[in-house]
Amino acid sequence: MIGRLNHVAIAVPDLAAAAALYRGAFGAKVSAPVDLPEHGVSTVFVELPNTKIELLHPLGDESPIAKFLERRPAGGIHHLCYEVDDIEQACEKLRAAGMRILGDGRPKTGAHGKPVVFLHPADALGTLIELEQA
Ligand code: CO
Repeated sequence: MIGRLNHVAIAVPDLAAAAALYRGAFGAKVSAPVDLPEHGVSTVFVELPNTKIELLHPLGDESPIAKFLERRPAGGIHHLCYEVDDIEQACEKLRAAGMRILGDGRPKTGAHGKPVVFLHPADALGTLIELEQA
């Protein structure tokens, strides 16, 4: 059911420094910062030949990334995003398999303007998983 790895998201304490690392030492193609207030994050997208890296920094007081960084001040891998063809169908299958979808369980518009859901990390090997309808 899951398809390509769409992106790996890394929470970072300093977005400019993280972007400089990827642009400089790693020599990657790096976007300008983009604020996504509805998700409580500022993001920088790193384009790799086979996938993307999203650098996430907290935006606002309610940001889910702030708590994450409290526990890991140096930053760390926050989630993986897999592509699916049909997100409603994917959610149905996952619910039937006993997996929990976070929030109200309904797809929301993600960082790329496409429908996304997040799965409870405790149901997926301790890893926060995002599904995006590609
Ligand atoms: Co993501």
